Amino acid sequence: MKKWLLILPFLTACSFDKSKPNIELIQDFMESPALKAQEYDATAPNNSAMRLPPDNTVPRGFKPYAFAKDYEGALKQVNPLAGDMSESVLNVGMKYYNTNCMVCHGTHGEGSEKSSVSQLMALKPPTLLSDKIRNWSDGNIFHVVTMGQGVMGPYASHIPARYRWQVVNYIRHLQKQDKK
Ligand code: HEC
Repeated sequence: MKKWLLILPFLTACSFDKSKPNIELIQDFMESPALKAQEYDATAPNNSAMRLPPDNTVPRGFKPYAFAKDYEGALKQVNPLAGDMSESVLNVGMKYYNTNCMVCHGTHGEGSEKSSVSQLMALKPPTLLSDKIRNWSDGNIFHVVTMGQGVMGPYASHIPARYRWQVVNYIRHLQKQDKK
């Protein structure tokens, strides 16, 4: 047999017509045996491919929130950006506020009775411009954003800590804007 005949199947496998799928000659690596996080896994204790981390471990680079069970301590936390109303801080704060909070607490923090989300909520999201929140420490607002409060969920995993402080400053900015 001529040697070039051996090469022929490899050449024909390469199609120049990109609209059609190629023929899979060697299928290793084409379909990964690795499971996706949400898939079923018969070998796992809870049959979920996503495993729980071992007890008493934290992910790399993760700093646990020190005041998760210390409300009094949380109130006294010092805002590392206290009073910083620079454009860069407020812009980041606004970005995260508009993405995560606005839908419930309103464009300017005025709370919301009518938004499509709050209509369905038994407890309406309160205003953040109240005397109550104005008199709260920055640490208190940070704590509620981190841990949630009542029917409001926690945002610790959505918004990294340093951005949460910028959201706090943005709320302070909204409060100032409100009392012209
Ligand atoms: C799904 C709607 C929803 C979203 C989104 C939401 N909240 Fe709330 N928030 C609420 C509700 C409802 C309450 C009142 C909860 C309670 O006291 O039981 C609340 C309470 C608060 C309070 C305390 C207000 C008070 O008078 O006690 C603060 C501060 C607050 N939210 C800030 C935020 C910030 C900042 C974000 C974005 C990171 C946010 N919330 C996202 C619904 C929401």
